[in-house]
Amino acid sequence: MLILGIESTCDETGVAVVENGTKIFSNFIASSVVKLAKYGGVVPEVVARDQVKFIIPLIEKSLEGIDRGKIDAIAVSSGPGLVGSLLIGVETAKTLATAWRKPLIPVNHLKGHIYANWLKVDSSQFTVKQNNKKPKFPLVALIVSGGHTDLVLMKNHGDFKILGSTLDDAAGEAFDKVARVLGLGYPGGPEIEKLAKQFTVDGSQLIVKFPRSMLNSDDFNFSFSGIKTAVANYVDSQSLIGNRKEEIAYEFQEAICDVLISKTICAAKKFNASSVVVGGGVSANTRLRSQLTARCLPLEIPIFFPSKILSVDNGAMIASAAFFERKYVDPKRLTVDPLLHF
Ligand code: KG4
Ligand code: ZN
Repeated sequence: MLILGIESTCDETGVAVVENGTKIFSNFIASSVVKLAKYGGVVPEVVARDQVKFIIPLIEKSLEGIDRGKIDAIAVSSGPGLVGSLLIGVETAKTLATAWRKPLIPVNHLKGHIYANWLKVDSSQFTVKQNNKKPKFPLVALIVSGGHTDLVLMKNHGDFKILGSTLDDAAGEAFDKVARVLGLGYPGGPEIEKLAKQFTVDGSQLIVKFPRSMLNSDDFNFSFSGIKTAVANYVDSQSLIGNRKEEIAYEFQEAICDVLISKTICAAKKFNASSVVVGGGVSANTRLRSQLTARCLPLEIPIFFPSKILSVDNGAMIASAAFFERKYVDPKRLTVDPLLHF
């Protein structure tokens, strides 16, 4: 089954064609991040105007060399996200589904981040490692993006149970805000990661310590607003810039990873998970990947991360989630839902 997937929930526009939820035929992403750098964050109006320009050329590019008649369905993220951005993807998908007489499948963007772990790529145009193994159920999924931090239990395809969520900021949001405090660019995650790598730990060097909020709370919820304030206060109190920035970036990243990893491992043990899967922009973080992998290894729980280009928002993950859920909707009845839950 060949699905055209459309993603436009935030500052990326993605379109892809995917077969049977796993095999990527095409996957194109256009982003507004370069334009957003000067604002230090997402400006919904700026993003939506870009998306209007990006979406049709991306659809045309994704379908190059593919017979449109062979597309079996159109899938689109219908939430959660920014209302203006969502509308562009959803209205485009509704129009295509009607004009081409194709079934329409709305997808929860967060489920898309989980299903990015089912995608494999066998074309030389992608720099993605082929991975033929699939996650096994029951699985624990950690979704870490700019807007969400969720731990989810999946007993089967389509069977999602939220175990916990952030009570305030998302992990990605904390990366972005701390990057701004440190005078780094947007998006903050990759910038912090780069800076943290420049810090060499020899024990005595690490002076600063940031809180691991809710590390020992007896649940699977998170809180990341405290660490953001702790970093801002520390920077103010030291009036520091210069070489301490690397140390701050390092310790901040360690604190975020410690909490994410500890809760994910607890959930995996409690629910006897056969796999752990991670998705969302923060899952591109190398430190999170290496530390979580190291913690899963002795437990013999296979861990899955999407390739880095599939960690961030993209149309392929939407087409994959659509294939496994296949909940069709009448185009006339589909509306966007900025606050969509599982
Ligand atoms: O999933 P995503 O592309 O968009 C949302 O659905 O929000 O995630 C974007 C978030 C941003 O907050 C960005 O700073 C973060 O993912 N991010 C990272 C890294 N790459 C992107 N965070 C930490 N380390 C990274 N390497
Ligand atoms: Zn996302």
